[in-house]
Amino acid sequence: MKSKSSFICQNCGFNSPKWLGRCPNCGEWNTLIEEVEEAVDAEFSFPPSDPILYKDIKEAKRERIKTGIKELNPVLGGGVVLGSLVLIGGEPGIGKSTLLLQVSRDFAAQGEKALYVSGEESLEQIKVRGERLGLKNGNLYFLAETNLERIITHAEKLNPKIFVLDSIQTVFSSKLSSGPGTISQVREVANQVFRFTKKSQVSSFLIGHITKVGSLAGPKSLEHMVDVVLYFEGERDHSHRVLRALKNRFGPVSELAIFEMGSRGLKAISNPSAFFLKERPADEAGSVVVCTIKGSRPLLVEIQALVSSTLFTGNPRRMTIGLDHFRVAMLLAIVEKKLGFSFAGEDVYVNVAGGLAIAEPATDLGVIIAVVSCVKNKAIPPDMTVFGEVGLSGEIRSVSQPLTRLKEAHSLGFKTAILPQGNLDHFKKEDISDMKLLGVQNVKQALSSLF
Ligand SMILES: Nc1ncnc2c1ncn2[C@@H]1O[C@H](COP(=O)(O)OP(=O)(O)O)[C@@H](O)[C@H]1O
Ligand SMILES: [Mg+2]
Ligand SMILES: [Zn+2]
Repeated sequence: MKSKSSFICQNCGFNSPKWLGRCPNCGEWNTLIEEVEEAVDAEFSFPPSDPILYKDIKEAKRERIKTGIKELNPVLGGGVVLGSLVLIGGEPGIGKSTLLLQVSRDFAAQGEKALYVSGEESLEQIKVRGERLGLKNGNLYFLAETNLERIITHAEKLNPKIFVLDSIQTVFSSKLSSGPGTISQVREVANQVFRFTKKSQVSSFLIGHITKVGSLAGPKSLEHMVDVVLYFEGERDHSHRVLRALKNRFGPVSELAIFEMGSRGLKAISNPSAFFLKERPADEAGSVVVCTIKGSRPLLVEIQALVSSTLFTGNPRRMTIGLDHFRVAMLLAIVEKKLGFSFAGEDVYVNVAGGLAIAEPATDLGVIIAVVSCVKNKAIPPDMTVFGEVGLSGEIRSVSQPLTRLKEAHSLGFKTAILPQGNLDHFKKEDISDMKLLGVQNVKQALSSLF
């Protein structure tokens, strides 16, 4: 094995033979650090093999085990696959350790052997967290260690079903001279854990810290090496956390789970719509409930708009939180052009209540109605919900899964829905027969039915 030194961007993993002030790949400044490349990548490949006929390829049988958190299983594609490596990333303090400690606890309670390795916290600190989460005696082992080779040796000897490494940034391989958390260390750690995972057929979880700006040795550069990538996100000022899959070799990536952080740990929210609507003001202008689809599940959320005259001369402000900025600007332009409103001297704020991000065009009509409701200072009936994509000429376009959306609204007591006319004729209304459905073809029609 020959060692050579090169400069690696700690943000994106870009490799340069010489030092550069700015990474030409991701554009970050001062992120290149000298690291010794110990030619580890060659080792990563599988043993040499011969060409094989398609018919002789054996179907991989995937054994899955369900986690004790019901809402987490769909995110993993129906449970954890034995022999798979899951990377879970998120900002410090978001709850990664808490989540995986709970997952390990529940596996251990089912009688599975679990090993939780912490390079971050002492056993005493883990004890404190364990008390908070109500950890009972079970087949759950802890190891406070930062040397990767020692960790793997212990793991092989213990032979657990579940293996957690917390976190990838604090552990180092003695094969490399660079410090913990550098790109080559992080990759080497992932490599060795990957090999251990496949060889021993354990379910492994790697925890990685990600910071919004100037991320330390981006776990992003590991995404291609692992089987599943999960992201844990949330806003500082909100107690809820969203866990979603970014990549899954064994399942879809559209699913998400919503948790609430409390004094006894993370609790999955089984009815997210009710959760996101619980603080909605009644009869307030500028507020509309939209039916959106997140993953495979419908979600009702409140969109709020505020339009107020621009105080200072200069450009009026356009602020969006949780929605695509450009899409909202487009919708405002449609409202100006098609409905004769003018926002020239107005600041416009549009917000998704509860801190959720929505990237679905089906919320278009809801945004427009929220804005107009605010301008007219007229509230939308509190038991009414809305969905529909809006095109540039103001036409309302059909969206996917109308019945799924309506059923969710129905189950939460909504009585009326405004939806695309094109959707209206394509589903059976049996289950929601007592709901009043208003099909609309363009924004003008939608608004005249309201105001
Ligand atoms: N007693 C408590 N009551 C409620 N929340 C707590 C309590 N103790 C810790 N937390 C929450 O747990 C978070 C830490 O979670 P943790 O799993 O350590 O995050 P990570 O591993 O992602 O850095 C803290 O930010 C805090 O919000
Ligand atoms: Mg932690
Ligand atoms: Zn870079």
